[in-house]
Amino acid sequence: MQASQIDIVSFSPDHIDGAFALSQQAQWPHRKEDWAFVLSLSKGFVALEGDRVVGTAMATLYGQTCVTINMVIVDEAMRGRGLGRQLMNAALKASEGRECRLVATRDGLPLYEKLGFVAGGEVIQHQGFVQKQGLDTSAVTWAEQDVLEDLAALDTTAFGADRRNLLRMLAQTGKFAVLRDAGTITGFIALRPFGRGEVAGPVVAANQADAKALLSFAFAAAGAFLRVDSTVATGLGPWLTQHGLMHVGGGVPMRRVAAQADTPETASVKTYVLASQALG
Ligand SMILES: CC(C)(COP(=O)(O)OP(=O)(O)OC[C@H]1O[C@@H](n2cnc3c(N)ncnc32)[C@H](O)[C@@H]1OP(=O)(O)O)[C@@H](O)C(=O)NCCC(=O)NCCS
Repeated sequence: MQASQIDIVSFSPDHIDGAFALSQQAQWPHRKEDWAFVLSLSKGFVALEGDRVVGTAMATLYGQTCVTINMVIVDEAMRGRGLGRQLMNAALKASEGRECRLVATRDGLPLYEKLGFVAGGEVIQHQGFVQKQGLDTSAVTWAEQDVLEDLAALDTTAFGADRRNLLRMLAQTGKFAVLRDAGTITGFIALRPFGRGEVAGPVVAANQADAKALLSFAFAAAGAFLRVDSTVATGLGPWLTQHGLMHVGGGVPMRRVAAQADTPETASVKTYVLASQALG
């Protein structure tokens, strides 16, 4: 039997329906809007068998120094034939020497290790219907539109790369809330529609107490099923569970360093909650 021809081509909006079918098959919660959100920030690739999408990968570019690789899926029936590696190679090429970050599933880990990614830490995915009793929201307010540059500066310090493009998109699809000290913004959170309901993140804050204050505000505002992707290292896991957001899984953060874009250990703020596993 002759093997079918597979082409790796650029991901265009026309491919979103096919990509959505793959994420449904993999039991990921992404809506078509969530695919479009990531695509708008990324160079994406699809594997096509005829006009059928049988694989995807995206490289989300942050400034000149960093990229997150995400939405790597191969149709169940086509796995183990090298398609994942081909899609990853296309995404790595599009990364143009930037430091690459991703959050690996158990399925993806062996492939990423072979491509030179190194694991470090653990991402924890919490979700559910948040318990709203006793939340202290007094210190946090919704952000005005003109604070985006302040938020971008804080995010760059915490993340170690310029994610202005992501913050602009988050402002279009969701809302930001901020914590201030004597008028100066010291931390922020984003809340936006995603998957089955909403996602809270990123949370950038100076310490865990500030991160909890920001999350409490988002909990009070959230109208539906809420997802929060944090890390074990932040120590937020038990507190998220206490508030009704169960630990349902996670992933392994990995990096492949070409150009250096590291987060200094001494940064004044850090990322307590990710924008998502895809976006870091
Ligand atoms: C991860 C995924 C994209 C891999 O796709 P794939 O087309 O099967 O991958 P490939 O056939 O290109 O295999 C890549 C390499 O990983 C290796 N590999 C795959 N699974 C492995 C395993 N369980 N143990 C050891 N090696 C493994 C393969 O042998 C291959 O190595 P080689 O290129 O040196 O021969 C696919 O399993 C998938 O879609 N999973 C569900 C969605 C998911 O979890 N995506 C990852 C998100 S981070």
